[in-house]
Amino acid sequence: MKILYLNGPNLNLLGQREPEIYGRTTLADIEGKVRDRAAKLKVEVEFRQSNVEGELVTWIQQAKGKFEVIVLNAAAYTHTSIALKDAISAIGVPTIEIHISNVHAREEFRHKSVIASVCRGQIVGFGANSYVLALEAAIIVNER
Ligand code: DQA
Repeated sequence: MKILYLNGPNLNLLGQREPEIYGRTTLADIEGKVRDRAAKLKVEVEFRQSNVEGELVTWIQQAKGKFEVIVLNAAAYTHTSIALKDAISAIGVPTIEIHISNVHAREEFRHKSVIASVCRGQIVGFGANSYVLALEAAIIVNER
């Protein structure tokens, strides 16, 4: 089973970006944590990050037939991107929405996710562990 982790804009700055909200863990540290757990669970993972909406759309499109599940932290595009929503709907690869912070406890514009309705579920607010928890969710989604 292969899981594609996609990360949206500014997540390349994790570790230095608003650490009081996002913590001090870098995206590379998160990837390391996920890889350790993935090895134990015997699943394969691939990690990508882009600040470009269209690149994320292309990666979602290309996931069909190559990955069983997508784990998506769309970052700010969560709240704006019809293009990401349409891509998820178009390819039909089960997608799990994740966030590091509890978006519901933050500004009102973060309460709305335009991708939520086409995702299988959300994991929100567990810091870097949202990524690790998503592995278990991906396995469950794939077994259904
Ligand atoms: C985020 C939450 C988004 O609202 C924000 O734009 C991000 C990160 C999170 O993981 O907590 O960039 O997706």
